Amino acid sequence: MGSIVFSVSFTVNLASAIRNTNLISQHSIQQIQSRIDIIEIIGSYVKLKKRGANYLGLCPFHNEKSPSFTVSPVKEIYKCFGCGKSGNTIGFLMDHDKLSYTEALRWLANKYNIELEETETSPEFKAQQQVSDSLYIINNFARDFFSNALFNTEEGTDVGLSYLKERGFREEIIKKFQLGYNPSARDEFTKAALNAQYNKELLLKTGLVVQRDDRMADNYRGRIIFPIHNQSGKVLGFGARIIQSNNKAPKYINTPENEIYVKSKILYGSYFARLAIDKADECLLVEGYTDVVSLHQAGIENVVASGGTSLTTDQLRLIKKYTNNLTIIYDGDNAGIKAALRGLDLALEESLNVRLVLIPDKEDPDSYVNKIGAEAFRQFIQSEKKDFILFQLEIALKDAGTDSTKKAAIVNQVAETISKINKTTEFTRRQDYVKQVAEILRIEESGMNALVNKFIRERIAKDVPPSPVNENIAQSEGQQTTPATDEAFNLFNQDELHEQAFVRSLVEFGLKRWDDEHSVAQFLFSQVDENDLENMIDNKMLVKIIETYRTWFKEGLEPTAKSFLYGEDQQMNSTIIQLMDVNAEISPNWNQHYDGHIPTREELFREEVISTLNYLKLRKIKRLIIENQADLEKATDPEEQLIFMQTHQHLKEMEIAITKKVGTVIYK
Ligand code: CTP
Ligand code: MN
Repeated sequence: MGSIVFSVSFTVNLASAIRNTNLISQHSIQQIQSRIDIIEIIGSYVKLKKRGANYLGLCPFHNEKSPSFTVSPVKEIYKCFGCGKSGNTIGFLMDHDKLSYTEALRWLANKYNIELEETETSPEFKAQQQVSDSLYIINNFARDFFSNALFNTEEGTDVGLSYLKERGFREEIIKKFQLGYNPSARDEFTKAALNAQYNKELLLKTGLVVQRDDRMADNYRGRIIFPIHNQSGKVLGFGARIIQSNNKAPKYINTPENEIYVKSKILYGSYFARLAIDKADECLLVEGYTDVVSLHQAGIENVVASGGTSLTTDQLRLIKKYTNNLTIIYDGDNAGIKAALRGLDLALEESLNVRLVLIPDKEDPDSYVNKIGAEAFRQFIQSEKKDFILFQLEIALKDAGTDSTKKAAIVNQVAETISKINKTTEFTRRQDYVKQVAEILRIEESGMNALVNKFIRERIAKDVPPSPVNENIAQSEGQQTTPATDEAFNLFNQDELHEQAFVRSLVEFGLKRWDDEHSVAQFLFSQVDENDLENMIDNKMLVKIIETYRTWFKEGLEPTAKSFLYGEDQQMNSTIIQLMDVNAEISPNWNQHYDGHIPTREELFREEVISTLNYLKLRKIKRLIIENQADLEKATDPEEQLIFMQTHQHLKEMEIAITKKVGTVIYK
């Protein structure tokens, strides 16, 4: 039985959407938030059935036969256990109807008859917004002009369309990707655009038009045009391919960076690949425009292109919105391998599972799929997919041959790479790699572990080098009984969990009374200085959450987890959802403390607040000790040395005092 999906009809008044760039006040957002009925809103898109406390339906973001799309009216969030998508009502509207954050807010305000308070945006912001809007409009005009030129002019069909058809592109795919042709005359597009009253300066900004000998001229004359869309299908810019390759002119000319075309954030094809990536839970990454179009034509739609440069963090995050599995398909030549490897570390830091497929030399995905056909290509990808880290190792080993110095360097390099897999949740994955790599390199697993830990520790301590002196002190005081390697792993996991726990305490218990005069939030803020926050919490997103909480709190608002769910920052949103979803496991010690009755976190919030706070303080002191230790080693002047030694003493005393207080609550 198929589900009935109602689509709420909805029109954005384009003119007002363009002009209205004001910010909606926090007060209005709270008002909207208090009115939102997530079941009503999502229920108008998805047929929902009540299941216990939650509602269940067929996920609108991926194809499924049995429902795994869950909506919680209490938490005001939805989560699909099939594709992993989650968010709040606003996020749902943004995702499903491709609205911007403010468009979603306006839509809700309109629905609930709430009058919006708006704060004036700065004139600069407004001006920039207006430029962006205009660039989009010009790009739309250009896309239509080029498409018309390709299909409906003699030159277009003779030169452009015939070229594309010769390469094997069929009309249907050409139309889908909105490909076009820029006539070879000096200024056909320019004239049309000026005739349509588009502003000269803006035209220059789009890169479609250039100033040549005091006159405006078409920049992409005689070229095939590939419009480049953002995830919601708006045209950000163009890639323009020359038809007859020649050495004088570049093969592609691309839109210059402007208000809307920011190369580092763009993945060609993301608009057309979105749903397929969701469905396959995998994103294929190729280099070129034609690769994307060809693979689509072959029925492989979960594919995007980087545009021939190495991947950026922004691009990886874009991919991560849809899937954790990235498969890079690059040319098998040296340059292709190098380009692929350059993206590796970044991808690991973003917790993506990266695999690699190399296309035989002299081919690219476009030529290769045309050569061997869709089915064979699909099988080729499946059978050739290699784990990225192991692949990197393989190549490096081949390269090193019997050179033992080079081999030692490889061990270090691979350890550093593995250490980039550093999220708490990826502990097992990291261990798996350590095991496999140790086997391949024929070295002891424990040795590999130690090396990986060294890199992790170095990163934790940021620029502070690990000090052997400090380890000696710790050992002599009998605090470090486990081997250094295990300690590092535990410490690391604990670190992140405790940071999370601290933020959870703040967000969950912040409005409770701490004592007669203070709330928990007030207490916590009195303990953690504003300027010290970044020294206490490593995770930038968590810092941001705390700062946002503090700002709201100071403004007299009463922030809860829900307040965060309605902010504009989608990443912050999902962090909060994760935080609140995680039911921190309580250590077995608690059973002993409390005679069988396992108390809830709610009952023990004071203890939780204190213990997470102390843990962070302790960690900070440990770091200061290491820093001080390094200073001491460097110091030559005896007087200076004395000061550092006294500081050490003082820090140690603080450490011991706090250590005594820590330890009742241990998160696993
Ligand atoms: N590229 C570019 N500028 C160039 C050359 C390449 O921006 N002068 C980018 C384009 O995004 C291009 C990608 O790098 O799609 C890959 O380049 P290449 O492999 O040379 O082109 P293909 O996409 O394979 O194009 P074709 O199949 O038409 O040769
Ligand atoms: Mn090609």
